Amino acid sequence: MVRIILLGYMGAGKTTVGKALAASLGVPFYDLDWFITTRYRRSVPEIFAERGEAGFRELEKRMLHEAAEFEDIVLSCGGGTPCFFDNMEYMNSLADTIYLKATPEVLAMHLRMGKGKRPLLEGKSPEELEDYIREMLVTREPFYSKAKYTLDVSLLDTAVKIQESVKLIKEMLNL
Ligand code: S3P
Repeated sequence: MVRIILLGYMGAGKTTVGKALAASLGVPFYDLDWFITTRYRRSVPEIFAERGEAGFRELEKRMLHEAAEFEDIVLSCGGGTPCFFDNMEYMNSLADTIYLKATPEVLAMHLRMGKGKRPLLEGKSPEELEDYIREMLVTREPFYSKAKYTLDVSLLDTAVKIQESVKLIKEMLNL
């Protein structure tokens, strides 16, 4: 049975690497944000606007408990998931957890390349974005570091680099 959870800051490549990893292992891929937005029929920014961040974190925890029970999956969680409640301990109790670790520069670059809407990053200039990431990582890193494995990721701007990360994860997990 393969149950892998990818975690890390926004823009670390959790979804990109997760999809490629799942395809390579022949198991389904789930994204926790997708799970939440499908179940509640609202986008993440809408949930933040309607319920506040605290409300979002409650739904996120609830959906994590559903999604993480599946067998043979790769799941990518949201950037904040490991940092609330006992989510990190819960994930470690039933999955191989992998922290995709990247520098603030790489994270900011990925976020600029991507099209995803993140309410926590709304309206930030490129300089503000990197400073904000740096500050947030100080508080989040202790949670992320509890993952069973850590993979350092650099700029994931080609399919070859994404496949390299997949290969490294499979080696780490002996798959
Ligand atoms: C968040 C990350 C987002 C999403 C929400 C909050 C965070 O997920 O859950 O916008 O607190 O870091 P991604 O990491 O997939 O962007």
